[in-house]
Amino acid sequence: MGYKNIIFEQEEGVAVITFNRPKALNALSTDLIAELSQAADGIAEDEAVRVLILTGAGEKAFVAGADITELATYNALQGKVFGKKGHEAFNKIQDLSIPVIAAVNGYALGGGCEIALTCDFIYAAENAMFGLPEITLGLMPGFGGTQRLPRLIGTNMAKEMIYTGKMISAAEALRIGLVNKVCPPGTLMEEVKKTAAEIASKGKVSLRAAKQAVNGGMNVDLVSGCAIEIDAFALCLASEDAREGTSAFLEKRKAVFKGSLTG
Ligand code: CAA
Repeated sequence: MGYKNIIFEQEEGVAVITFNRPKALNALSTDLIAELSQAADGIAEDEAVRVLILTGAGEKAFVAGADITELATYNALQGKVFGKKGHEAFNKIQDLSIPVIAAVNGYALGGGCEIALTCDFIYAAENAMFGLPEITLGLMPGFGGTQRLPRLIGTNMAKEMIYTGKMISAAEALRIGLVNKVCPPGTLMEEVKKTAAEIASKGKVSLRAAKQAVNGGMNVDLVSGCAIEIDAFALCLASEDAREGTSAFLEKRKAVFKGSLTG
């Protein structure tokens, strides 16, 4: 597929999308967002992809936000179209049935922090910096930051980041639960790929069901969330993987998952 603003790679069930505009610190242009959206559509239809990793080209940035050269020219209507396209693409990433990991290798600012927040979890390099600096541009987060960040780190922590526009280090991001792991220089992709491979070896049906239960439960009350879990759990028991996983345990051998339902 002829992408110009992202790189798409796929190896042994693990796909990697690399945001690739290093001269603009991988800023999210309209074209890049369209390519991300297209790539998400392709992944959603590709049974071979088990885990997706998002990362940025170059040493300096994951993504330094929406492309400010574009934003500077927009009126309110154009801003609404841009915001909508961003949300549509980001929701596609969030709604993928497979696990998605952000490998944040530098600045994750504005839309860059927001795309990382659509992922199931984030690993960061020691030099990574996170922030929602839109307020310093006379703007506010427009790709989900006011919604996803408070849900992850709590309302007051999120408000401080949004109101001040200040960046926080990877270590601080780890402390407040924004990232799961901070990796020494040069080891980020190795660590993310190790975790991705471990996840890819698990049953596809149960991974999908677990993700749906967690994400579905985030938007509803506890009783409704538990009802989602009951259905998802029951679905797992209709899979060959559940037969294989439980038999393998009882036979004291390693399970080999096929990822199919028994019908
Ligand atoms: N959009 C467009 N270009 C950007 C960019 C962005 N978000 N971020 C960086 N660039 C460009 C710079 O303009 C510069 O280009 P030139 O070499 O042509 O001048 C190049 O990338 C390198 O950047 P700097 O020279 O600024 O690098 P630095 O090391 O001095 O600073 C930085 C790095 C702190 C990340 C700084 O670039 C910066 O503050 N970037 C903007 C961050 C930001 O405000 N992001 C929010 C965008 S708005 C948004 O995202 C809205 C939304 O939610 C939808």
